[in-house]
Formats: sequence, structure tokens, C-alpha cells
Amino acid sequence: MIKIVTIIGARPQIIKAAAVSRAIRKKFSDKIEEIIIHTGQHYDDNMSKVFFEEMDVPEPDLNLGVGSASHGKQTAAMMEKIEEALLQEKPDFIILFGDTNSTLAGSVAASKIHIPIVHIEAGLRSFNKSMPEEINRIVCDHTSTLLFTPTRTGLNNLINEGFKPHNNPPFTADNPGVFHSGDVMYDNSIYFAELAKKKSNILKEYDLQNKEFILGTIHRDNNTDIPERLSAIFNAINEIASQNEINVVLPLHPRTYKILKQNLTSELYLSVINNPFINIIPPVSFFDMIVLEKNCKLIMTDSGGVQKEAYFFQKPGIILRSETEWVEIVENGTAVVTDANKENIINAFNHFNTIDDLTFPPVFGDGFASEFICREILKAS
Ligand code: UD1
Ligand code: UDP
Repeated sequence: MIKIVTIIGARPQIIKAAAVSRAIRKKFSDKIEEIIIHTGQHYDDNMSKVFFEEMDVPEPDLNLGVGSASHGKQTAAMMEKIEEALLQEKPDFIILFGDTNSTLAGSVAASKIHIPIVHIEAGLRSFNKSMPEEINRIVCDHTSTLLFTPTRTGLNNLINEGFKPHNNPPFTADNPGVFHSGDVMYDNSIYFAELAKKKSNILKEYDLQNKEFILGTIHRDNNTDIPERLSAIFNAINEIASQNEINVVLPLHPRTYKILKQNLTSELYLSVINNPFINIIPPVSFFDMIVLEKNCKLIMTDSGGVQKEAYFFQKPGIILRSETEWVEIVENGTAVVTDANKENIINAFNHFNTIDDLTFPPVFGDGFASEFICREILKAS
């Protein structure tokens, strides 16, 4: 029996952990003991609790209750408490997901006390170091003992940084094992799609049955915190909604919701909130999100996860960033990078509005990435 500590903190990490935790409980419960530590980076019920309940993720064994703060303060508080917990638990491995401050804190804390790190969603690069996530993921990759990439591009990025996918065990931080596993989020979307359809009432709740609608999410710091960028995005959404008489559903991250009024001109703010086609709603549950994604016409987003889910559910994507880590979906023409540029966003909408024969070849694995990862962890133990 090996002991693993899984660190989660932000919404997408709870969702990713659901897939791996499910694989552990269903297939490897006699071989792997999992301890879940929640840093408390996300804490509102609709950013945290709802995912545990709906996706049947075991309650965290420990919640560090760190909450929101500046990068340094938040990461430092997490590091201190994660170190304490690791010294007490003495796990064989720590699992870290993605690229948030919770990932960074876990990687620094674990590597300094020589606990081998498993990085799930390794190898992604935006090549934009002004993104906090780019720093977090580079540090985590370069301190990890086992790295699992969701895409071929992720693997190539690691090879370009000197990682060797054919290293032989025993694996260590200096001789890491690098694997192309596929994407654990794809595992989830396949696993929960049918159940979500049965359980979610979101279409009825917002009167979207049999209506065409666009789904959008916005939370990236350089979109929310720079008024010109946030205004360009909302100007585009406002115009697309009004001119095409199409509904736009925006489950807004609390970060965006809190700053919207402040960072839009009062004229634009009033125009957006009074636009009968724009529906700004609180963050939704994963099942509701799946149903919105499956039933919408198109997805506009700056989210890493939502870009992928657009692809899983075969919807065109408008990427509200200057680049993406998921380059495959842009290369195959199913998504367009528009940045926060009004004309680009409107042009991308018009482009996809005239096309209905997009094809979505497999990019994210076979839906069993989590099981693959568990098997490789066991082999390395
Ligand atoms: C974090 C991650 C980002 C990820 C996102 C997923 C970092 C650096 N960023 O960004 O990579 O894409 O999570 O959603 O780790 N807030 C609430 N309630 C909550 C949580 C946050 O109101 O439950 C508000 C607070 O005002 C907080 C702000 O959102 O200051 C930002 O939260 P934070 O966790 O610092 O970063 P995110 O923007 O959520
Ligand atoms: N998500 C959700 N409800 C929402 C918005 C997003 O369940 O209101 C899910 C979404 O389906 C995806 C994940 O949250 O699985 C993406 O997280 P987020 O956009 O917060 O972060 P990122 O992926 O950009 O790090």
C-alpha cells in the first residue's frame, strides 16, 4: 500500500482530482491510500463545495483555509501549512494538478523535503511569463519526479526543455519519468455527461430550452484587471448579442463579478446588464456547466479547462487570450485566438456562424488517463 497526498485548491483542481480520486477508489483502493488536502484557495460554496458533492469527491482530510491574498502572501501561507502536513503524513508521493498557486506551493514545499511530486497536466506552456500560471507550471514541472502530459504538445514542450521521455527507473526529481497520459478532464466529461443531462435543470432555470445561445466565461487576471481589455470583451459580447439577437450566458467567476462595474465605463456596464440577450449568472456546478457546454452554439472563454471542454463537446471556441496552451485545437481550426480584441472576437463569431462542418479529431486521450496515471505511480513506487 502506498500513501499519496493530493493537493487541491482552485475549482479546476477539485474537478481534475475527481477523476483521479475516482480511479483510485474504483480500481486501486487496495494499493493506494489517498489523503486529500484542500488549500482553501477557493472557498465559496459554488467554487468548491458543490464539486465535492456532485462529483462524489471525498471530503478533504484537511482544509488549510488559506483564502484569497496577493500571490506571495497566499503562496507562502500555503507552503508553510503544506510542509507541516507533509511532515506529519510522510506520503510516498504528492499529486499536484495544473498551474495554480496551490500547485506552486505544493511543489516548493514537497521538493524541499524530498517528497516525490506527481504533476498532472505537465508540459503546458503559453510562452508568456507574465502569466502567474506559466511560472507555477514551470516550477512544478522542474521539481517533479513523474510528469503526465495531457497532449502531445505538452510532451514536446518538456522534451524541448531537456526532459527525456525514455528515462529508466528509478525515477527521481533528477531522473524524472515523463509520460503522455491524456487529459484527466476528458475522463470526467465522458464519465459525467449522461448523469449531468439527467440531473441538471439549468436550461429550464434560465429559459434556454430550444434556444440558440453562446456560453462565455472570463476570469483571467489580465482580462479582469485591465479595464481596456475587459471593456473590449464586453463590447464584443454586447454587440454580438444585440445584432444577432442571440442569448449569451455568462457564469461569472467571483473575481470578474466583483470588478465588472468598476472596470467597465458606466455606459457599457449599463448596456450590458440591461441587454435582454445577456445573462450574467453566478458560477454554476459542473453538471450545469456540462449541460450548458453541450447545448450551446459556441463557447467564448479565457479558461484553460473550458477551452478543452468546448472541444470535448464539439463546439467552436473563441479564446479570449493572446495565446493558448491547447495549440492543437487552434491548428485544427475548431478554435480561434482573438485576444481581448473587439473586432477579432466579432470576426471569429461571424466566421463560426457560417460553418457547421467542423471536425474534432482526438487530441486529449482515450478517457482513461487517470487509470494510466495510477498504474505508472504504482510502477514507480
Ligand atoms: C485561480 C488560478 C487560475 C485558475 C483559476 C480557476 C492562480 C494564480 N490562479 O485564479 O490559474 O484559472 O483559479 O478558477 O492560482 N474569489 C472569491 N471566492 C472564491 C475564490 C476567489 O470571491 O471562492 C475571488 C477573490 O476576490 C479573489 C479572486 O477571486 O481575490 C481571485 O481568486 P484567486 O484564487 O486568487 O485567483 P483566481 O483568479 O481564482
Ligand atoms: N466550471 C464550472 N462552473 C462554472 C465555470 C467553470 O463547473 O461556472 C468548470 C468548467 O467546466 C471546467 C473548470 O470549471 O471544468 C474550469 O475552471 P476555471 O475556468 O475556473 O479554471 P481554468 O481551467 O482556467 O484554470
